[in-house]
Amino acid sequence: MVPRVARVHRRRTETPDVITLDLEPEKGDGGDSVPFEPGQFNMLTAFGVGEIPISHSGDPMNPDRPVHTIRAVGAVSSALVRLRPGDAVGVRGPFGAGWPIGAAEGRDVVLVAGGLGLAPLRPALHRLLAEPQRYGRILLLYGTRSPEDILFRRELESLRQRLEIDIEVTVDHAVSEWRGHVGVVTRLIARSEFDPLNSIAFVCGPEVMMRFAVGKLRDAGVSDESIHISMERNMKCAVGLCGHCQFGPSFVCRDGPVFPLERVRELLAVQEI
Ligand SMILES: Cc1cc2nc3c(=O)[nH]c(=O)nc-3n(C[C@H](O)[C@H](O)[C@H](O)COP(=O)(O)OP(=O)(O)OC[C@H]3O[C@@H](n4cnc5c(N)ncnc54)[C@H](O)[C@@H]3O)c2cc1C
Ligand code: FES
Repeated sequence: MVPRVARVHRRRTETPDVITLDLEPEKGDGGDSVPFEPGQFNMLTAFGVGEIPISHSGDPMNPDRPVHTIRAVGAVSSALVRLRPGDAVGVRGPFGAGWPIGAAEGRDVVLVAGGLGLAPLRPALHRLLAEPQRYGRILLLYGTRSPEDILFRRELESLRQRLEIDIEVTVDHAVSEWRGHVGVVTRLIARSEFDPLNSIAFVCGPEVMMRFAVGKLRDAGVSDESIHISMERNMKCAVGLCGHCQFGPSFVCRDGPVFPLERVRELLAVQEI
């Protein structure tokens, strides 16, 4: 329960309200690399302000420098977004159940991301693209509000050159220079080529977007067992003790944040329990 201390090694501005921090654990403070699975999260402390859950957004093959992508929405996230290289941050984790990458072997993999939802999917993308021959088609369908909200833009542009992955990006509101899709990300599902009977889908984004994505994936023929979604609930302990993140019979911190759809189907419509 006691956070390790890490220093901000690098800070990148992704969009007007989202930054990415590369952290370096302090030597002698459990500073060895702590492995994590794609989809897991850390509890990050902004000292003197508070602690919040933030997903890993870096490469799981390089856990020495944990990477986190953060949007400023309230007191703690804004304090983390204000950190500069050299500043201290508390780190507890990793916690939770991540994306079932093993179950994706031999199947098409459809990643559906809305907005900041791309951050928790990025480690899965790294893992899949490290050994693409183990999977069928790999598709990333990504939607943001506007072109300036696209996360990891340069990385996506360079990944698009690779033959092992199809990347489609759509925006809700276009500007005149935008040449890509316009409209909600869920529309891309029907247009995409994958084998619904031999595919697995990982979905992350606002709950309303995930509900529609689930509907479109089902319409396309993907079974509920093959759809996995990442849920967010307010958290305190992150280890299944306080009940703060209760989601029906499950605790999001311990049993999630990634759940198979069949486990949370009935609860997906419930805002907060
Ligand atoms: C497993 C998990 C992984 C997450 N990963 C990331 C991530 O990678 N990057 C990131 O920026 N954020 C992530 N979040 C959300 C992040 O934890 C919240 O934005 C943060 O707790 C807000 O705290 P605050 O003190 O800044 O704002 P608060 O003052 O607590 O809240 C500000 C506003 O945000 C809303 N809010 C607070 N917590 C959440 C939440 N968990 N989900 C949705 N709305 C919330 C509040 O209702 C309020 O409207 C994750 C949350 C969970 C549960
Ligand atoms: S945050 Fe305490 S039980 Fe999940």
